[in-house]
Amino acid sequence: MIQDPASILVVDDDREMRQLLQDILESENYRVVLASDGQEALARMESEKFPVVVTDLRMKGMNGFDLLGHVAQKHSESNLIMMTAFGTVESAVEAMKHGAFHYLTKPVKADELLVTVHKALKDALLREEVQQLRQQVSREFAFDQILGKSKPMREIFDLIRRVADSQTNILITGESGTGKELVAKALHFNSQRKSKPFVPVNCAAIPELLLESELFGHVRGAFTDAKSDKYGLFEEAHDGTLFLDEVSELPMMLQAKLLRAVQEREIRRVGATKSTSVNVRLIAATNVMLAEEVKAKRFREDLYYRLNVIEIRLPPLRDRKEDIPLLAHGLLKKSLTAQQKHIEGISDSALARLIDYQWPGNVRELENIVERAATLTQGSSISLEDLPINLQAIQGDGQFIEDAVEQILPLGQVEKSYIRRVLEKLGGNKYQTAHVLGIDRKTLYRKLSEMEES
Ligand SMILES: Nc1ncnc2c1ncn2[C@@H]1O[C@H](COP(=O)(O)OP(=O)(O)OP(=O)(O)O)[C@@H](O)[C@H]1O
Ligand SMILES: [Mg+2]
Repeated sequence: MIQDPASILVVDDDREMRQLLQDILESENYRVVLASDGQEALARMESEKFPVVVTDLRMKGMNGFDLLGHVAQKHSESNLIMMTAFGTVESAVEAMKHGAFHYLTKPVKADELLVTVHKALKDALLREEVQQLRQQVSREFAFDQILGKSKPMREIFDLIRRVADSQTNILITGESGTGKELVAKALHFNSQRKSKPFVPVNCAAIPELLLESELFGHVRGAFTDAKSDKYGLFEEAHDGTLFLDEVSELPMMLQAKLLRAVQEREIRRVGATKSTSVNVRLIAATNVMLAEEVKAKRFREDLYYRLNVIEIRLPPLRDRKEDIPLLAHGLLKKSLTAQQKHIEGISDSALARLIDYQWPGNVRELENIVERAATLTQGSSISLEDLPINLQAIQGDGQFIEDAVEQILPLGQVEKSYIRRVLEKLGGNKYQTAHVLGIDRKTLYRKLSEMEES
């Protein structure tokens, strides 16, 4: 948060100049912090946020350009104003090119300084506001997107809330399509790192030879194609979260480098001689049993323990069937909004089939099937015919109807058996059962008590 009065950091190695700038700025009620060189300025910036930094270009030690480089990289919320010597247009242009907010030529005029600082501050405030709004949206978005009210999912929401803000590394496990990436985002956007980048990387999707430079960056000339220095994803995720998806696919050689990065909190770009320190929270995800990979010596044990400080285990959809109606309706709504289409809902028989199915592809498969049905259906709601053939063909309740027809059962009896079966299938959850059957709870209770009496 930008404080009121706003703090301005003034960097100059000339004491008189510092004093002068301080006097001018304080006359407008700014809070002024002084630093006598780039190094000291950076140290100040570690402990306090400055929306505006006014710096001299020529200083002993770390000069204004070096400082600008660090600010652009690590304190992008700050606007930097560069003071250059009169007549040196080139350095002013250079400063702007490297991301300075503006420049002032010396000797600095009071009114010019104040106008420029005011503009820089206004810009910083606006950017902060935009970022906060964006975060707010993304955070709500992150939690809202995860649908589920079954016990295992409620426990997962609880766990996410408890661990999101800690610094610990987290391993998310679960079959394909169970929502690992959604959970990773929810963790990030509910942590204090939320305004910093969330950088996903799929370890299985990047060719082994490229992966090292993708993760850690490279310096110019490190290999034939390295035409310039390049940031790696670790540096991109600085102060934020790096999401290592399909982490089991990480080659052994990179596992060693990753371990070093996790332990030492520093990385080395390919071809570099020096290390760079990084502050990154790691969230890894896998759909294989990583412990088995460790046993088979395909995954380093030490790395496994480093990544797996806390494990979030996402249950397969077939083990939380009571989430299916909620998910199906939620995903349908999402798909209809995207397609700008209107459908009333899902027919009872189609929903019963969705509940019955085993979902090897988990929520992703459900999402696809609902989307497909929403696209294809010509009726006012999704019916059994809108589901793929393999789902239509499930034996179960379909057989039950066949049997009823065979025996020519009275409707009341079929209804009773049907209610009993659905209730059984939903683990005795009456609320869910009423929902699936499309009747209200009171009606269900009445029917159930009638069944007990008969
Ligand atoms: N609980 C949930 N609520 C709503 N949507 C979900 C839920 N879980 C998963 N999804 C949706 O299902 C799809 C798959 O989720 P996600 O990509 O997070 O799964 P994953 O576990 O990372 O899968 P994979 O292992 O295949 O990468 C996404 O479109 C996601 O939005
Ligand atoms: Mg995934």
